[in-house]
Amino acid sequence: MNVPSAKLSSVGALATESPLRDLEAIIRSRTPLIAVESNEEPQVVGIVRKIGQRLQLKAYRWTVTEGLQAFEPCDQPLQSVVKSQEIFNFIKTSGSHSLFVLLDFHPFLEDTVHVRYLKDVALSYPNHYSTVVIVGCALKIPEELRPFTAPFRLPLPTADELRRIVFDAAGEWGAEHGRRDVETTNKALDLLVRNLAGLTATDARRLALKAINDQGVIAESEMPEVMRAKYELLGRDSPLTFEYETARFSEIGGMTRLRQWLEVRKSVFSGGTQVHLDPPRGVLLLGVQGCGKSLAAKAAAGIFGVPLLRLDFGVLYNKYYGETERNLRKALETAEVMSPCVLWLDEIEKGLAVGDEDDGLSRRILSALLTWMSERRKPVFLVATANDITRLPPEMVRKGRFDEIFFVDLPSPQNRRDILGIHLSKRCLTPKQFDLDALVSATDGFSGSEIEQAIVSAMYTAHAQGRTVTQTDLLAELQQTKPLSVVMAEKVDEIRAWAIGRTVPCD
Ligand SMILES: Nc1ncnc2c1ncn2[C@@H]1O[C@H](COP(=O)(O)OP(=O)(O)O)[C@@H](O)[C@H]1O
Ligand SMILES: [Mg+2]
Repeated sequence: MNVPSAKLSSVGALATESPLRDLEAIIRSRTPLIAVESNEEPQVVGIVRKIGQRLQLKAYRWTVTEGLQAFEPCDQPLQSVVKSQEIFNFIKTSGSHSLFVLLDFHPFLEDTVHVRYLKDVALSYPNHYSTVVIVGCALKIPEELRPFTAPFRLPLPTADELRRIVFDAAGEWGAEHGRRDVETTNKALDLLVRNLAGLTATDARRLALKAINDQGVIAESEMPEVMRAKYELLGRDSPLTFEYETARFSEIGGMTRLRQWLEVRKSVFSGGTQVHLDPPRGVLLLGVQGCGKSLAAKAAAGIFGVPLLRLDFGVLYNKYYGETERNLRKALETAEVMSPCVLWLDEIEKGLAVGDEDDGLSRRILSALLTWMSERRKPVFLVATANDITRLPPEMVRKGRFDEIFFVDLPSPQNRRDILGIHLSKRCLTPKQFDLDALVSATDGFSGSEIEQAIVSAMYTAHAQGRTVTQTDLLAELQQTKPLSVVMAEKVDEIRAWAIGRTVPCD
């Protein structure tokens, strides 16, 4: 726990001047329909109400449960207007120069009759000069209404506003706990504010409250938990998964050059230094299966000390049939909001191999991804892995896409020694009690994964006989195993030949 150096208490409410001015400008520009995709309903309603007052327009809200309600009692319709379809008659006949906020209206946009009603209102705008503001958490504006509709987004809170939200949350916590002050350090407070970026005011407030622990402290140590909760808010229903387990490079045999490469860039990536260096953008790890590429992707997040998000191509293609591109965009947006983070694309050749059988979908996905890679502004470090270079789209490996393409080869004798040591120790065995030289020779051509599997199998054999594993068990197991490099010797040679001159060895 950090030494507390700052005490937080509440300061004033959030300013909403700029969205108010922006929405007012749209209304003044004589737009019949405005679509607001937001779950910040009270804020949107509040803004429309204020605009009504400022422009001296009558303003109403409609919900399916309460029907049409005027904000000012004197404007209340004489007859009740409850059914969704009745609003449109009201607008056309008696609602001139008014504002109508329709809340949770998205299900009605799927009904052709409602769509036509809205279009009628839009077309007859010069007769009534009323604007309809449609609000919903997910709005899909039908093609027919697009020409008449202006989209409007509530801007997300700025860093200053987020800081204020944290202070307000601290005030709230204090009020609930006998007027106690929340304690924190400047660094923890800055980190929290940075981690709340990209969230709506409501979500930011919820997380800020969550970040205050039972002792009333906002600590740096709580930040991974904050990021996890942030992901829960954003990543629901997304092909991204939050990887709770990041790895340490100490668990990997070899890859020293990759590790150094990452270490050297760590401080620039996390924004810790003020030098004008281009932040690292990503690496492609290419090579033989089972040699630790996936493990290294996890370790990259571990070195940078940031969340690890994995984009699952299987989910991207299958779960959201017909919405693949939209969901890729959403996933990439989420990654940017979660930044700084590592975005891990595992086995990209499987997700991006361009085939003829999918109407060009994988080509469109590839091009969307490439565009994002070249345009992204946020610190999202990409780690892509691939086993099969023949199925890899050539655009992906072109110079400049990644900062570096690392080649992950079968482990050298020294690396096999390290891998043996790591996996024996992991299973509470003492490497020194084994003849490592003999094991290193016996594992020639083995991948890290195969070495690990051999240890596990030998331990099972010994366990079945009621004893601990011995050198003989291990050697017997290794002799029985036919490593992939032997079974698929040509493939491995092909990868190696391709890698020369195109990639950098990761050792
Ligand atoms: N270099 C290595 N050092 C330590 N363990 C390794 C190494 N390579 C592979 N392994 C073990 O094999 C498992 C599978 O490796 P993985 O990272 O999935 O390989 P890849 O992604 O290259 O196919 C890892 O989780 C790890 O336990
Ligand atoms: Mg892998």
